[in-house]
Amino acid sequence: MRKIKCVGILTSGGDAPGMNAAIRAVTRSAIASGLQVKAIYRGYEGLINNEIKEFTTENVSNIIQRGGTILKTARSTEFLTVEGRKRAYDNMVEQNIDALVVIGGNGSLAGARIFAEEYDVPCIGLPGTIDNDLNGTDSTIGYDTTLNTIMECVDKIRDTATSHERIFFVEVMGRDAGFLAQNSAIATGAEAAIIPEDSTNADQLEQFIGRGIRKSKNSSIVLVSESPKCGAMYYAERVRKEYPEYDVRVSILGHLQRGGSPSANDRILASRLGVGAVQALKEGQRNVMIGIRNDEVVYVPFSNAIKSNKPVKKELIDVLGILSI
Ligand code: F6P
Repeated sequence: MRKIKCVGILTSGGDAPGMNAAIRAVTRSAIASGLQVKAIYRGYEGLINNEIKEFTTENVSNIIQRGGTILKTARSTEFLTVEGRKRAYDNMVEQNIDALVVIGGNGSLAGARIFAEEYDVPCIGLPGTIDNDLNGTDSTIGYDTTLNTIMECVDKIRDTATSHERIFFVEVMGRDAGFLAQNSAIATGAEAAIIPEDSTNADQLEQFIGRGIRKSKNSSIVLVSESPKCGAMYYAERVRKEYPEYDVRVSILGHLQRGGSPSANDRILASRLGVGAVQALKEGQRNVMIGIRNDEVVYVPFSNAIKSNKPVKKELIDVLGILSI
């Protein structure tokens, strides 16, 4: 196996608070291990377009507390093509980059997996997404911060909801996963969460209304996972039509959920994962995502990490149900 002397690092897909802490950790631990670090800008796009610059420890000073990613990010469509990946590989060779650390979500790690297989390049993934939808790690970088951001917003919505005695449908991100909606519902004392994982339940709205929550409370807040067809607007419209006696409002939190200074948990998680990535490369690991399970650093093969079936625990659904009576 070729000796690794230079590590390339990039962030890809949706940005997530804590990505900078991860960039810092990878850079500093690689340099501490005698490796050269090259920063690749705008995700895979930057690899294709050769937007690459050597990093020293100073390049990552004073970034642990900053949201977003100093490397910029993109969802590269060109990297989905054989030609795009060939250009990316040619630039890696030209830049003497021996291994890649990719910080991103599902799509980004799926890209790393294909690239690693095609060109026999050691790739290490770090789970960087607010959605928490990667398998093999208890949490992803950004998830905890976003959960806290949603919690602060919903606490504020509660003030006005109570004053006006309204039902609010609050839509949150998560792509196809309900972790943000379910756990922010628990954290805010919301009356219900409507999440894709609970699709066995034919009509979650009926259940919510049927429980008579509105009768016993001044206000009701329902956290709704984003969805092209059945988002917060859909449920609000239904209540307006089917239960006109209720005063309904919608709040779609949108991209404010992705910004802000990372929480302590996300900074620590990103720091541990970043150091873990360099350690994994030194051990000769390749094509794995670094995760943390039960407080231990673990190596998760890309194929397992990106499986689209990370379950929301039934227990969490029960907890919300019991506490929202
Ligand atoms: O994957 C992170 C995420 O924020 C999802 O929760 C959301 O569906 C998506 O990205 C939004 O992407 P964009 O910023 O490209 O609109």
